[in-house]
Amino acid sequence: MIDQFGRPIEYLRISVTDKCNLRCVYCMPEEGLPWLKREEILSYEEIAEIVRVMARLGLRRVRLTGGEPLVRRDLPRLVEMIAAVAGIEDIALSTNAILLEEYADALRAVGVHRVNISLDSLQPERVDAIARRAGSYQKIMGGIAAAERVGFSPIKINMVVMRGRNDDEVEDFARITRERPWHVRFIEVMPTGSNLEISKDEFVSCYEVLSRIRSIGELAATEGPSGNGPARYYRFAGAPGSVGVITPLSHTYCDRCNRMRLTADGHLRPCLFGDIQTNLRDALRRGEPLEPLVEETLRIKPERHHLVRGSDVGSGRLVALSQVGG
Ligand code: 5AD
Ligand code: SF4
Repeated sequence: MIDQFGRPIEYLRISVTDKCNLRCVYCMPEEGLPWLKREEILSYEEIAEIVRVMARLGLRRVRLTGGEPLVRRDLPRLVEMIAAVAGIEDIALSTNAILLEEYADALRAVGVHRVNISLDSLQPERVDAIARRAGSYQKIMGGIAAAERVGFSPIKINMVVMRGRNDDEVEDFARITRERPWHVRFIEVMPTGSNLEISKDEFVSCYEVLSRIRSIGELAATEGPSGNGPARYYRFAGAPGSVGVITPLSHTYCDRCNRMRLTADGHLRPCLFGDIQTNLRDALRRGEPLEPLVEETLRIKPERHHLVRGSDVGSGRLVALSQVGG
């Protein structure tokens, strides 16, 4: 699959649920969102069929996202089904790690190779406050330990930087990469309908993050761990881990985009933001061929997103990234 701008597309992020067991302040409102109905959500069989169709067109790598993917029942069964699809070489998971301790062994056994874990602070009270759920810190740390124990590699940690909430911990996160093989990625808050205040008032650019980290040691640009996402990576001399920045606002990486997204309700999105999406679910349920729809979606994949800080216009009026899998 090559799009009209010459970008090879071989990576699909699959949102398996729009629900989540946390309420991170930059993502979801406290009261949650109007959840999708059960019948609107793709079954595992339907997801596997879409992966089969796309694998025939060149799909090679898959990541399961949410909401929180582990709140969907028996996720290892889906992994097993996707791992059996000819052509799929890599299956990864993005998780908040709350349930990871419980599922790490089963996920590893069926073929998950790597995990990205969200961790927005190293201080227990702050983690719980940002996630708006007491006890989160303990569970997340248990989940990270389980990920290390079962041998997921690389382990990537995502930290969304917010002024006044956790930006003073950027150096602490960076220091960890000198001790552990963690790849810590600092993410700029992306504006969606439910976080416009934060996106406007608490935005910290990755330029600022990098200059703060440089104050504790010299950083050299590096390849970074496998995965080829939007992050740019740097390393302290001799460090087992790395730091990365994901800069949706201050610098777009869209020219290197290699992906599409499948929402929990079966819409194929050629771009995280914007309002272009193709309903594969209804076509699949009517027994119609999916190839032409996938090819058409690829054809209209936009060159780049047009995010604007403090506005949800550029995000296509998304309320939360959990609706499209982040
Ligand atoms: N801006 C930046 N990152 C976000 N995430 C979720 N919502 C946002 C947002 N509005 C992050 C989560 C997770 C990853 C999948 O996306 O923290 O690490
Ligand atoms: Fe859940 Fe992730 Fe959104 Fe936090 S950022 S509420 S963990 S989906």
